[in-house]
Amino acid sequence: MADDGQIIVVAIDGPAGSGKSTVARLLADALALGYLDTGAMYRAVAFAVLSAGIDPEDEDKVAVVAETLDIELRADGSVIVDGADATAEIRSAAVSRSVSAVAANQRVRAELVERQRRWTRIRGGGVLEGRDIGTAVFPDADLKVYLTASPEVRAARRAGEESSLDYATVAADLARRDAYDSSRVHDPLRQASDAVTVDTSDLTIEQVVASLVVMVEEGSQLGAEQ
Ligand code: DC
Repeated sequence: MADDGQIIVVAIDGPAGSGKSTVARLLADALALGYLDTGAMYRAVAFAVLSAGIDPEDEDKVAVVAETLDIELRADGSVIVDGADATAEIRSAAVSRSVSAVAANQRVRAELVERQRRWTRIRGGGVLEGRDIGTAVFPDADLKVYLTASPEVRAARRAGEESSLDYATVAADLARRDAYDSSRVHDPLRQASDAVTVDTSDLTIEQVVASLVVMVEEGSQLGAEQ
């Protein structure tokens, strides 16, 4: 993708709690690129669906919400949905429970993938974080990273972020979402064959970011290094 030397796209995929958001944000800062949390877009749609009293499994109604929703992801991390700040609401337990069903909807995915590509084109590149960035959104990204960590470490991280939830609840929710996101028909979570796998279980954020900066700077596409 960077053959013309202008656009740099870094794709960061992996399951919930693998450290994607923190790593992607810091990497974007280090590379002076924009950062896009694509999961926040799916969450914004799920939030709007629930707010409208629509069943998340009602494919047609959910698709119309996605196709007409105004989603603004600000640089400070806030998420504005149809003009209202929904930064906290999109992380609620209710949204977390229903977002996988919304993300399995093919029309929702088509709409959001198109918005993600447009966002990247306008900015001349970026660091995008999600589940299908390296496989579907930007299969020709300059660097594809698959971040992972053990289920125990991922659940402990998520429980630490959300003090109202206990470890067992978070672990069960993560396991359910992993299974759903990996088994859905449209663009399931899976590793691109040419993605660099980084297991963050025993690494600090700084170590992960530093190694990714080196990979981008060296223009290295290290291939499947598992
Ligand atoms: O990263 P997250 O947990 O905030 O993502 C919320 C949900 O959205 C998650 O269940 C998977 C889905 N998702 C997706 O299907 N594709 C993406 N590119 C990003 C997230």
